[in-house]
Amino acid sequence: MSTYFDYAATCPIDEEALEAYVKASREFYGNTRSLHDPGTKAEVLLSHCRKTLANLLGVHKEGMYFTSGGTESNLLAMEGLMKAGKGNHLITSAAEHSSVRNSAEKLAADGYEVSWVPLTKEGIVDVNELEKLMREDTVLVSIQHVNSDIGTIQPIRRIREVCDKWGAWLHSDCVQSFGKVELNSIIPCLDSFSLSSHKVYGPKGTGALYISPAVSFQPLLPNGTHESGVRAGTVNTPGIAAFTTAAAKSIRELEKRQSKIKALKHEFLNALNDIKFQIKIVSESVNSVPIIGLCMNGLEGQWVMLEANRRGYAFSTGSACQVGSEGSPSILTSVGLNEDEAKSFIRISFSHDHTREDILGIAECLKGIVNEYAVLSSQIKKPAFYK
Ligand SMILES: Cc1ncc(COP(=O)(O)O)c(C=O)c1O
Repeated sequence: MSTYFDYAATCPIDEEALEAYVKASREFYGNTRSLHDPGTKAEVLLSHCRKTLANLLGVHKEGMYFTSGGTESNLLAMEGLMKAGKGNHLITSAAEHSSVRNSAEKLAADGYEVSWVPLTKEGIVDVNELEKLMREDTVLVSIQHVNSDIGTIQPIRRIREVCDKWGAWLHSDCVQSFGKVELNSIIPCLDSFSLSSHKVYGPKGTGALYISPAVSFQPLLPNGTHESGVRAGTVNTPGIAAFTTAAAKSIRELEKRQSKIKALKHEFLNALNDIKFQIKIVSESVNSVPIIGLCMNGLEGQWVMLEANRRGYAFSTGSACQVGSEGSPSILTSVGLNEDEAKSFIRISFSHDHTREDILGIAECLKGIVNEYAVLSSQIKKPAFYK
């Protein structure tokens, strides 16, 4: 069995969330649009979940729509807002998840104009450059809150100020920040945002989109009856009940989880001290985002990942390597990594359930790989018979 360090990709389901899923599947199976008793019972549960999630975030329940997850929420928000807006211009960033980038590229193919705001060397959206890109016809700015590859936190409040000057809407993909960092201070700055259940120990295939009721919006499919017409398809009541349970728990335990994550990150980086000249840390190490990006100098990230997997540790090379190859910039090149460094990238993502032993274990694993490779390559470079 592997020790899992890929929580930014997905999490195992929380036990309480699983119980909620099973109970809702057994007892609240009706279609929420049916007018008979089982349907009404499911509708009551659905509206309880909507209200609970809205209260957790301090937003109007009327703007909270359940979806199949972060990808769908981002697409619905970006298409829906662009189509409802008066202009033709969208701004997004090099740091975004593929669901935002692909939605932006789809909008560009449909005739909208898309600008990509650059990042600073620290992986933060360059607000001065954003100001320069803003136009009279800018409808929407879509900037994620926390980056999924290197864990940087974007300056949403400052971005809001820029949007306000031009009357543009602001959408944020909060999939990697919800339940990991405090959202109360940025939520009032957003016209819409996306959440995903499986990043907060809920089930896969569910999530939410919030769109302020003050904002006009066009649904992707017309004449839908579920979710006030914003999202068609029978509602996944068990998934939503389990997501809401997991979400409530992650907010309730936020402070405790944050201090545990900070301590684990500190422990991990300390433990890598012996190989500090062979690696490059590409993340902010002191915040509570449970993600650390590393370049393994001279080694291919994919190979390190597979070698670690063989030794019992599961992590990823991040999503950064899959995007950015076709003209739109990627987070890794944006923060100044050259092609070889970007290829050597790995992402370790933590859980509050990790123990000190888990952390020391993965650090030892990485040290072992680096040191064994160093010995191997020195033998290859200087074979004895050359002397
Ligand atoms: C920042 C970010 N946005 C969106 C998504 C997509 O979420 P989902 O898997 O729920 O579609 C992910 C998942 O990796 C993500 O990290």
